[in-house]
Amino acid sequence: MALLPTQGPACGEVPYTKQACLSVGSFVKIKGTPAMPFSKDTQMQVDFHTGNEEDSDIAFHFRVYFGRRVVMNTRQGGKWGEEVKSTVMPFEDGQPFELAILVQPYGYEVSVNGREYYKFPHRLEPGHVRMIQVWREVSLTSVYVI
Ligand code: GAL
Repeated sequence: MALLPTQGPACGEVPYTKQACLSVGSFVKIKGTPAMPFSKDTQMQVDFHTGNEEDSDIAFHFRVYFGRRVVMNTRQGGKWGEEVKSTVMPFEDGQPFELAILVQPYGYEVSVNGREYYKFPHRLEPGHVRMIQVWREVSLTSVYVI
């Protein structure tokens, strides 16, 4: 089921912001390439915001420290929740990637390059998400919300 599809090329620029309404079954697909070598503390951040402002609550925060680790969390009322970390690093230096986030009833199912990466249980209602932001050192090819 497609809910308010907002698809289109991202033109590579970050911070990239997209209005989006999510519900169970929604699918966010982000294609890009790290903009710098991993040795330069290259990062990517994906935030699912519950409002259009950058200081709104974050239902899902996915921050990649390329070559090192991935940090996931939520932010409510300006305060970060309990951080989840993974040192599994499916992103490759200089290589294009596809990050897919599927909204499941229990949480966000994250895959990288078609392989399941992490299941992050919902802490905030995904139906409250209004805006997706992708930023830091990444060159975007496309961002789709289906
Ligand atoms: C902080 C970082 C935030 C966010 C948070 C997640 O250290 O400054 O951007 O990643 O961790 O727990």
